[in-house]
Amino acid sequence: MTEQHFIPKEYKISKEKGQVTWESPSNIALVKYWGKKKHQIPENPSISLTLNNCKTITTLSYSKKESGNDFSFEVFLDGEKKDDFKPKIKTFFERVEAYLPFLKDFHFKIETSNTFPHSSGIASSASGMSAMALCLLSLEKLNNPEITDLYFYQKASFLARLGSGSACRSIEGDLIVWGETKAVNGSSDLFGVKYPYQVHEIFKEYQDTILLVDKGEKQVSSTVGHNLMYEHPYAENRFKQAHENLEKLKPILESGDLDQFIALVESEALTLHAMMMTSMPYFILMKPNTLEIINKIWNFRKNTGLHIGFTLDAGANVHILYPKNEAKVILEFIKNELVVYCQNEQYICDQIGFGANQIKE
Ligand code: DP6
Repeated sequence: MTEQHFIPKEYKISKEKGQVTWESPSNIALVKYWGKKKHQIPENPSISLTLNNCKTITTLSYSKKESGNDFSFEVFLDGEKKDDFKPKIKTFFERVEAYLPFLKDFHFKIETSNTFPHSSGIASSASGMSAMALCLLSLEKLNNPEITDLYFYQKASFLARLGSGSACRSIEGDLIVWGETKAVNGSSDLFGVKYPYQVHEIFKEYQDTILLVDKGEKQVSSTVGHNLMYEHPYAENRFKQAHENLEKLKPILESGDLDQFIALVESEALTLHAMMMTSMPYFILMKPNTLEIINKIWNFRKNTGLHIGFTLDAGANVHILYPKNEAKVILEFIKNELVVYCQNEQYICDQIGFGANQIKE
């Protein structure tokens, strides 16, 4: 399949105005996407858990205007006008215009809010861009109600990817693969696909408690971060390793071997940070409290034999992953021993989820 598949035949939307609302979740990668080529094509495959509680809710109001040369839109976050979001959205519109040919025929009002605290350091680009892609694609569906669910979800993921790579993994759940790899049948660089193999029951209700260690502005934007992989001395091996890790994950997900699961996921997280520490320029995105938490998790795991593990994104926050049947004791441990390392003792309890939902037409 190529990009052509998502270029529609010429169409005009007859509806003059209306509104559509989607909620879309965030996701957390187990095998990390780090490094991209032109047009948001990943250098390596990744797989993520879709989250359930951390999400963005976006309402798109559209009204017909004279078709001009420019995009016309305004953005609000929690009811407040956000002109600083506009450049990112404009870039997104430019990237998707070929696939959504009506964009310049409308004025859009984009109203968005997140269920997680703003500037918590949790990436809102995955949930935000996927919600926006879904709202826009709903307009195409108005005119083409016969498009299949498969096409709709693939195209939504394709469009979301053009907004933010990891956003393409937020449309559906519960485990999503993005990036072509021999390890996963049907995988694609263009959109996320549902993980197609057997998954052990233990993962069906997997928990993710997010410790908000540092809520500050991101030290490195994701684009700058991905670009660091261009002339990176270890890039080639890292990309190869991601394919291998996806292959290794298959029997682990099938058997529910949590020790191996934790080893693979923690190694991926530390590898991501190792890539940042060994690029030029180099960054350390963990904070002292990130390391305190990691060491406490390792000690607790050793002492109790419980299946608690962590992963990290490109920042200082820690995602603690564990099975639901161990949640009681692990949550106690988190509250009693780890929350002190969080900014304002903030943390978010989340778990594996099943993707985006349309709330209103
Ligand atoms: C570290 O998806 O935010 O979270 O495509 O430039 O928007 P852009 O990058 P983004 O990168 C996320 C990278 C990561 C790992 C991951 O989610 O796989």
